[in-house]
Amino acid sequence: MSIEVVVPLGERSYPVVVASGGYAHLGRRLSALGLPRRLFLVTETNVGPLWASAVREVLTAAGFDIIVVTLPAGEVSKTTETWTRCVDALLDAGIDRRTPVVALGGGVLGDVAGFAAATVLRGVPFVQLPTTLLAMVDASVGGKTGVNHPSGKNLVGAFHQPVLVYAALGTLATLPAAERIAGLGEVVKTALIGDRDLLARIEEQAEALREGDVSALAPVIARCVEIKAAVVGRDERESGWRAVLNAGHTLGHAWEAASGFGVLRHGEAVALGLLAETRWAVRRGYCQDPELPRRLAELLHRLGLPTEPPTLPRDRLLGAMRVDKKARGDILLVPVAVRAGQAVLAELPVQDLIELLPEPR
Ligand code: GLY
Repeated sequence: MSIEVVVPLGERSYPVVVASGGYAHLGRRLSALGLPRRLFLVTETNVGPLWASAVREVLTAAGFDIIVVTLPAGEVSKTTETWTRCVDALLDAGIDRRTPVVALGGGVLGDVAGFAAATVLRGVPFVQLPTTLLAMVDASVGGKTGVNHPSGKNLVGAFHQPVLVYAALGTLATLPAAERIAGLGEVVKTALIGDRDLLARIEEQAEALREGDVSALAPVIARCVEIKAAVVGRDERESGWRAVLNAGHTLGHAWEAASGFGVLRHGEAVALGLLAETRWAVRRGYCQDPELPRRLAELLHRLGLPTEPPTLPRDRLLGAMRVDKKARGDILLVPVAVRAGQAVLAELPVQDLIELLPEPR
């Protein structure tokens, strides 16, 4: 069974296929795009050994000639060096302007391979095969690509929309449970900003979602993609409204960066950020539902996500936020829920961070 969502960008619109099994229909979907028969499958050292041969088999059977490029895994590899290595491999193997780059992996791999696809020969067709929950509901959709810089996360990059996203939920079976659960942080974010019925559904099915039950996950992932697709369709390049997708990220990024990348998973940091920012939104009158923080905390707990941020020196947290691209003078523009399923971009005075980021005792 598969569910299809279209990201509405005029001539650059593309389908996101949420397939409950593996890659059985990928060959047909890729063939339908009319791309050249030679393609690059870019993957990484964790996902490649698990899924690259299944993808290669299906695509070879569909008549494609595949060159595999394997990059190092993990957030520490999301660098200009890895991007250079990818571009070198594509050029060395004779990529031309029409040759597609197919990214098989999680958010980091998709961002690096996508940035290579955006930049090599000034841009080649790009396909995303996300293998983590986080990448399925967020990173693979919407065309953000890029790498980190010593000054901060995602500071070098480009918008480059894929021509197809194919999320095979079968890949979630080989994802460590803690990674899958962390991805639920982005799922809750999407429901909180975009759909109160989805939030209620997540509450009803929290245990099944936490356990990775594909029949519970498939419609939830598809709905998250629909919500994100609508936001991206309205504001592709984040001139305003797309920032709503950064709910939970202002404080989340600070905790994630200040505790050292890799200590707190991104989705866990987002969960913590959502809770703290919603509490702040209630106190400042942006959120009209005073019960929402309690409801959110209970849901995060049931999903296996953290609700207590690490206590870190405030200077370190504020230092981590200084490179926050959302900062505008003394005010941070922070998306918060007005009520379940509806969000607004709120003005958070930097002064309020003092109260939001308690010092360790
Ligand atoms: N991950 C947020 C965005 O795509 O805009």
